[in-house]
Amino acid sequence: SSSTARLVVDLDVTGPKINRHLYGHFAEHLGRCIYGGFWVGEDSPIPNVGGIRSDVVDALRALRIPNLRWPGGCFADEYHWRDGIGPREQRPTMINTHWGDVEENNHFGTHEFMTLCELLGAEPYVNGNVGSGTVQEMSEWVEYLTRDGDSPMVRLRRANGRDRPWRVPFWGIGNEAWGCGGNMRPEAYADLARRYATFCRDHGDNRLYRIAAGAADDDLAWTRALMEAVSCLGCAPEPRGIFQAISFHYYSFAGDAIGKGSATEFGEDQYYATMAKAADIDRVIAGHVAVMDSYDPQRRIGLVCDEWGTWWAVEPGTHPGFLYQQNTLRDALVAGVHFDIFHKHAARLQMANIAQTVNVLQAMILTGDDGSMVLTPTYHVFEMNQGHQDAWQLPVHVIDGPSARSVGGAQLNTLSASASLKDGRALISVSNLDLDSDAVLTFDLRGRQVTGVRGRVLTADKPQAHNTSLAPDVVRPTALESAYAAGTLTVELPRHSFGTLELTLS
Ligand code: AHR
Repeated sequence: SSSTARLVVDLDVTGPKINRHLYGHFAEHLGRCIYGGFWVGEDSPIPNVGGIRSDVVDALRALRIPNLRWPGGCFADEYHWRDGIGPREQRPTMINTHWGDVEENNHFGTHEFMTLCELLGAEPYVNGNVGSGTVQEMSEWVEYLTRDGDSPMVRLRRANGRDRPWRVPFWGIGNEAWGCGGNMRPEAYADLARRYATFCRDHGDNRLYRIAAGAADDDLAWTRALMEAVSCLGCAPEPRGIFQAISFHYYSFAGDAIGKGSATEFGEDQYYATMAKAADIDRVIAGHVAVMDSYDPQRRIGLVCDEWGTWWAVEPGTHPGFLYQQNTLRDALVAGVHFDIFHKHAARLQMANIAQTVNVLQAMILTGDDGSMVLTPTYHVFEMNQGHQDAWQLPVHVIDGPSARSVGGAQLNTLSASASLKDGRALISVSNLDLDSDAVLTFDLRGRQVTGVRGRVLTADKPQAHNTSLAPDVVRPTALESAYAAGTLTVELPRHSFGTLELTLS
């Protein structure tokens, strides 16, 4: 069967800029994300640059990933950065108590992370330790990374082979302080965030964008406590001087079962429940924005979703603490829906980081110890959506679309879309979440002439489809036919698919 919809886009009426950092990533010392994912060591037969896997870097460079968050997650609040500098064989080991209770040898530390960011062309987002660290430890890490001239930390950095300071734009003040980051109450953490942020100095011309650890999902009381703390006029030279953004985390799954349910074997109900959960981030973001607007109507404080993605049961036979899951077309559609919503909230939402880049949760890349590497369906959504980075949002109005589907107590729109404008080109992203109906879409494109269209679609015969090292291209983008005449563009978007339309404008 098929449905129809008309979508109106004014190509000359732009909204806010879509910060490229909405396409950010997250890499934690968790399972095989760092070790085996990014890091194989210099002696590995797998091609590498100074221990960092070359194929993974090349694949991520093609996505132009704007920033990478590290070292956690929960791991950040038990990480002591001094253990990860100096000659590798002399670095102390520790136990990664959150993720598998395994030994961490600290071979991947500050210098290796900064080299990785340089190879990727991504900006570093370092997440400091509030839960089990000290103010001094965090303050000295900032000094070690970003100070020039002469100082105790600069001398230590130079002794470890790095003369010039690095540029570190993004700094996290702890992680999930309500949970693994210390089980704190909001007011207690808000005061700590002020204190830690105070000693994370701007050295030289490095300007830190300090991100306070925010809410789980729609815990608006947490956001309110942080806004109270940051907008306390008179407590600092100016409110932005304490911390510059507040985060929140949001994971998608089917129903109430985080970490349960197979990544690849699911039925129609679980599929739609996942889509409804993914779409509900719109309500969650709107809630945080409303709280923030009431304290900061000029939108000086940013909102950051520095963990998002799907969370399924681990693949059978893998370590339960390593969070290794397959990635299907369903995951790709979750990403497409999230990006449409992120674009909609671009005025306040400044950054988002998918959890996590390689081998953990909703990954872009899955690697094998045999040296194999697989690009997941989610990878392709990031690739197809690249043109939205730093583009101007274009509102999309869906007229006469398919009726919303009732999922549990929620109403799910099975058509999701967003658009943007940059450098004489417009990019439209559109998802058809319906499992049974293809969608005949008529775009009413106003205000500018369209001189060229490139359509692409990501789909497969079923939403459970995924890529493996034996069959790496089961889900990959292919051409999407379109017809354009006199301001009207028509495409037929298959059921369970994500499509992009790149328009060249006169
Ligand atoms: O991404 C996995 C974990 O999820 C992170 O370490 C933590 O912050 C969140 O609970």
